[in-house]
Amino acid sequence: MELDTRQRAMLEEMGVKVFRPSLPTVALDDAPPSPPQGGDAAVRAAAVAVARPATGVAAPVRVAAPAMARAPVGEIAGMDWDALEQAVASCQACGLCRSRKNTVFGVGSRQARWLIVGEAPGENEDLQGEPFVGQAGALLDNMLKALGLSRAAEGAQAAYIANVLKCRPPGNRNPQPEEVLQCEPYLRRQVALLQPQVILALGRFAAQSLLQHSVPEVATMPLGRLRGQVHQYEAVPVVVSYHPAYLLRTPQDKAKAWADLCLARGLMQRVPA
Ligand code: URA
Repeated sequence: MELDTRQRAMLEEMGVKVFRPSLPTVALDDAPPSPPQGGDAAVRAAAVAVARPATGVAAPVRVAAPAMARAPVGEIAGMDWDALEQAVASCQACGLCRSRKNTVFGVGSRQARWLIVGEAPGENEDLQGEPFVGQAGALLDNMLKALGLSRAAEGAQAAYIANVLKCRPPGNRNPQPEEVLQCEPYLRRQVALLQPQVILALGRFAAQSLLQHSVPEVATMPLGRLRGQVHQYEAVPVVVSYHPAYLLRTPQDKAKAWADLCLARGLMQRVPA
């Protein structure tokens, strides 16, 4: 139950301590878990205040649990690379901060003209703190190599690799909308700092996250319908393709993925080096 000012004043008048969240309130059942500091017990205790009016009848008063520390969108928009990496490393904007071993910021030259965007770290990435280091990563590296690109290169051969989510969803489940929402400012700032000439969006989540404002029906469109055309994200051309993990399961679609890479390479060839 949310309390208005008058109800709060009444409860305080009666000597009932009412928890005052300093951040926007969230419906109790939807509240994400609390950040590590303070602990669960403290939050649960704060979330239920028991009113004991003069009648002696206990009346439980449920107030909203505190939201987690939201990603400070305004600050993120002004950060340089190092500050941004630090902000990601200490982020507690969603529950994934509880289960991650490492944040996975991104890898590659910060002058790269290519940005590759995947979905979220998996187990290996979580352990190593680097995107695409598992089997799907090996395939991605081969795809990049076919274009003469590498995460380790500088200059025209350089590719920067990042994910929509910077923390691993437990059990490799799909990212939740709230997690994507909280993490989005980090990727947005990475794009602003990198100023890539082309973005390759790999898989449904990358496509949906990057194109949500430019393609109104993106949430319901099959990935296949987003391929083969050039979209835009923050005025940067975006080419959508299959996620390497999907290609490992569906190798017959590798030819289509190659066509997508060629589309992206064609865009790049139009840009003066
Ligand atoms: N899949 C992704 O989308 N990103 C990774 O970093 C690893 C696997």
